Amino acid sequence: MSHWWQDTTVYQIYPRSFQDSNGDGIGDLRGIIQRLDYLQDLGVGALWLCPIYQSPNDDNGYDIANYREIMSEFGTMADFDELVSEAKKRGMRLIMDLVVNHTSDEHAWFIDAKSSPTAEHRDWYIWRDPAPDGGAPNALSSMFGGSAWEYDQLSGQYYLHLFSKKQPDLNWANPAVHSAVYDMMNFWLDKGIGGFRMDVIELLGKEPDRLITGNGPRLHEYLQEMNHATFGRGDYLTVGECWGATPEIAHLYTDADRHELSMIFQFGHIELDQKPGKDKWETRPLNVNALRDLLFKWQDEFASSGWPTLFWSNHDVPRIARWTIPGPLQDKQLKMFATLLYLMKGTPFIFQGEELGLRNHPVTSVEELRDIESINLYHSRRDAGQSEAEILSAINEKGRDNARRPMQWSSTHEAGFTTGKPWIALNNDYQIRNAELEAKDPNSVLAYYRQLLHLRKSTPSILKGQFIRLPKEPDGVAGYIRTFGDVKLLVVANMTGTTQHLHTSLDIRRVLLTNGDFDRQQDDVILPPYVAFAAEVVGGNSNE
Ligand code: GLC
Ligand code: CA
Repeated sequence: MSHWWQDTTVYQIYPRSFQDSNGDGIGDLRGIIQRLDYLQDLGVGALWLCPIYQSPNDDNGYDIANYREIMSEFGTMADFDELVSEAKKRGMRLIMDLVVNHTSDEHAWFIDAKSSPTAEHRDWYIWRDPAPDGGAPNALSSMFGGSAWEYDQLSGQYYLHLFSKKQPDLNWANPAVHSAVYDMMNFWLDKGIGGFRMDVIELLGKEPDRLITGNGPRLHEYLQEMNHATFGRGDYLTVGECWGATPEIAHLYTDADRHELSMIFQFGHIELDQKPGKDKWETRPLNVNALRDLLFKWQDEFASSGWPTLFWSNHDVPRIARWTIPGPLQDKQLKMFATLLYLMKGTPFIFQGEELGLRNHPVTSVEELRDIESINLYHSRRDAGQSEAEILSAINEKGRDNARRPMQWSSTHEAGFTTGKPWIALNNDYQIRNAELEAKDPNSVLAYYRQLLHLRKSTPSILKGQFIRLPKEPDGVAGYIRTFGDVKLLVVANMTGTTQHLHTSLDIRRVLLTNGDFDRQQDDVILPPYVAFAAEVVGGNSNE
């Protein structure tokens, strides 16, 4: 069976940084409505909104205080309904961020839970007595640093928070939590949304007493139940955030006969610039052959069941510009990465500003940081004696604020993002890199993304074709074929800064997309630095 979400491209919006409509420096829903025509022109069919629910913003909306109210800074429910219908008019559906591993500590459920050990909602969260020494129940740590257990004076117990202490974990072992969450999901589905992006979904089956957090024993039972009770009633896009997914685990989530999710984000390629066995702050240079091999491996894994996601970044990882070299070929390199990935089989997820080729932006002092993860890291490493310069350099490389800076719409005041003062500083390159300038420039990254996404939409071999890796790529070159009926589409990318030769007997008939010129001499395709292309081809050996 074929699904709408297999033929579409998703665009991820970080609402706080997309478009401010009222000058308070914070992006909002009316701002998104103003930019819907831009998104339609780009060629996307779904918009994933990072959380827009009521929240004290300890973790920028991933700490939800009321799942059925819009964050007042972002607008009203009427604005939301208008956004859904205006998007629909332009052929786009909204994908909501579903954050149900935890709530905010300001959610009514948690306020009740902590009011007394016998409160109605006490068991909706995870409470434990202190260890015999009076300390935390066990060694589980929070992703944002420190213990995952917070002491509660009133009851003398600890509650679990795998993220900040303002994000208490819900107790999924309690069926009452399930029904409340499913009701809330149905509330949003009934508003006409297109599906959910599911935050840290792999943590739902946690068994904290056994120190199990990801991929707990009951996880898939919960997801099947959730599917049945909510989105299983229609053709909805669901995508789980699954940092620890192996191919085997990926199939548990996505094989159609299991009735769980449409697809998952797995992050192996994102982590390739990380030292093996170390955390994300310890980096090493990207090996492009390893990148190619990993991306291709996942294509093979999903050849006959499941469905891949295709993405380079999101609000948690720095922009893909980190894998490019500043200078005259940088835009070409960005277009090469787009060609390599987004012509594969799967659903592309473009993070806002990626289509403009936006770069990362370093900070020079701790005052410039906004993200709780970076701020906590800074303080704990300072306490441990690390130098300010060393810490900021790690944060500049991998910190989450990098991707969260405002969209660059034009060369005017604050890039047209706001008429006021933005909640986080813009990248100061906005006068040379913005949507208005790029829309007028046929060689811009924006022009290339538009061309690529429109090509994708109208080309059955890209949407539905089989993926076949080229048998003999030289180092630094990635090549694959998408076949559909009699059509063969060849995609080749030179991932290096030197000229490369690809030996192939395939006959290039028509070039559909390219970021530069390349030559053909007999059985050789000669690729200048970072050149990539897609072309209709015929012939070739049986294994080509
Ligand atoms: C996910 C989100 C991230 C958030 C965390 C806790 O990883 O993408 O932004 O901080 O979950 O909700
Ligand atoms: Ca605003």
